[in-house]
Amino acid sequence: MKALILAGGKGTRLRPITFTRAKQLVPVANKPILFYGIESIRDAGITDIGIIVGDTADEVMDACGDGSRWGVSLTYIPQEAPLGLAHAVKIAEDFMAGDSFVMYLGDNLIKDGIVRFVDEFESGTANAQILLARVPNASQFGVAELGTDGSVKCLVEKPEEPRSDLALVGVYLFDDSVFEAVGAIEPSARGELEITDAIQWLVDNGKRVDPHIIEGWWKDTGKLDDMLEANRIILDTLSPEISGDVDAESEIHGRVSIGQGTSVRKSVIRGPSVIGERCEIVDTYIGPYTSVGDCCEVTGSELEHAILMREARVLNVGRRIADSLIGCNVTVRRTDGVLSAIRVMLGDNSEVELA
Ligand code: DAU
Repeated sequence: MKALILAGGKGTRLRPITFTRAKQLVPVANKPILFYGIESIRDAGITDIGIIVGDTADEVMDACGDGSRWGVSLTYIPQEAPLGLAHAVKIAEDFMAGDSFVMYLGDNLIKDGIVRFVDEFESGTANAQILLARVPNASQFGVAELGTDGSVKCLVEKPEEPRSDLALVGVYLFDDSVFEAVGAIEPSARGELEITDAIQWLVDNGKRVDPHIIEGWWKDTGKLDDMLEANRIILDTLSPEISGDVDAESEIHGRVSIGQGTSVRKSVIRGPSVIGERCEIVDTYIGPYTSVGDCCEVTGSELEHAILMREARVLNVGRRIADSLIGCNVTVRRTDGVLSAIRVMLGDNSEVELA
């Protein structure tokens, strides 16, 4: 069994963060989302992994390397444009060389991993297995309709009026019959080769597609609120470890992890929270569910339920920043003197909410 991770695509919903950065590399609890996927696949005993890459190929390759750090082998498969999930399968046919595989969308996070699903598929006789989760907003996903006997009847990509609340989770298991399916379908109205159409083709052509409804927590991290929720869920499982230097005037409460070379002065940190390496935290309150990346500086400020990416600086803001995602190398600071106006330098599509 092999694996195919999809890490191409455009990531428009997380703009501006994803203008310059692969959305699969945005960190959750200080670890890129993509790494959780690689670890889940490795934990399911699969070591031969193809990764579909697009415009952000260099960044993804720099971050993941050859996979040896996880004990897996990574092969990068360039996709000339984000032409759809089924297109990604199509261009991976040579890499799969007739093997069955698990396809994992690089922006998905499944808290309990995929061991069970991979074992089930390997020991069974299905041609494909899909994972489904009940969601309140099914029209934002691929949606499955099951027959009275529980078999897959029909799949539709982001329908305006969903026929069920069963969303397709971004983990699929296929044998090599999927290559016939992706070769047979046509691009959808949005110009993409849809994996939902390929799976529908399997159903319509007498192949066995087993649905599996998952109960555990799963997230497609496409939007800010989803990222913050993913951050919260992962931080809830954090093992505390203080490697940095915390002075006697600071207080650490609950599960907090502080990386090497980080210095905490006159501050309060309330877990679950993670602070990366080589950060300076001074005169600051860091509240629950906050992840601060490496080399950040936070002084005279309050942060809560937030993600700060590496090298960000929050300086003497004096107010609480909450429910926020702050990108790499961003500075938020209070200036001296009487403020009569707010001064900003923001990238395209940035969002600032002023209370
Ligand atoms: O997350 C689950 C949903 O994922 C499913 O319910 C939908 O049926 C499925 O189509 C997909 O919908 P999204 O709109 O979330 O797909 P997105 O365009 O975000 O792409 C998912 C991942 O695949 C993402 O990491 C980018 C990558 N990708 C996407 C396309 C279209 C590629 O590598 N190549 C592509 O051509």
